[in-house]
Amino acid sequence: MKFSKKAALFSAVLLSASLSAHAGDPLQSAIQDGKQAFSHETFGGKGKTCDACHSNDGVGPGKLPNGKAIPSLSNAAAIFPRFNPKAKKVVTLEDQIRACVKNALQGTPPEAGNEKLTNIAAYITSLSQGKPIDMGGKPE
Ligand code: HEC
Repeated sequence: MKFSKKAALFSAVLLSASLSAHAGDPLQSAIQDGKQAFSHETFGGKGKTCDACHSNDGVGPGKLPNGKAIPSLSNAAAIFPRFNPKAKKVVTLEDQIRACVKNALQGTPPEAGNEKLTNIAAYITSLSQGKPIDMGGKPE
């Protein structure tokens, strides 16, 4: 009796673990959609996508032709909100995504609350899974 209770609990844990990895899970599908958008969405710009600069699904660091560093996004969600010297204010991860849409993609930045923006933020946040919040920290 005791054993079967344990076994039932164990299979419930296994079941919930496999459910959270399932594509039908709303958070997982937002992350997957965001990952797709990261490499396919042009936001009506000049045809560039995020992964044109943020290589290796966003985790690879890089360099612009002018030598400016392109940060890896592997800890981005752990270091936002952060001070942006150019904007002279503290910006959120979503603000930064919108800035890259406008400046880097030359597209139309999605409004706050836009599903694609949320999904890209969810994808980028998933890259920081397990990393401690490091306010004031530097990109990796
Ligand atoms: C033309 C190259 C280029 C493209 C395309 C681009 N970015 Fe960026 N991104 C940069 C550079 C350079 C930075 C460094 C900060 C800055 O100067 O804006 C950056 C910074 C970021 C950061 C902040 C990282 C950190 O830890 O400070 C995020 C998040 C980000 N980009 C997301 C995106 C997303 C999402 C897209 C697609 C919508 C995108 N970027 C498209 C060049 C690009």
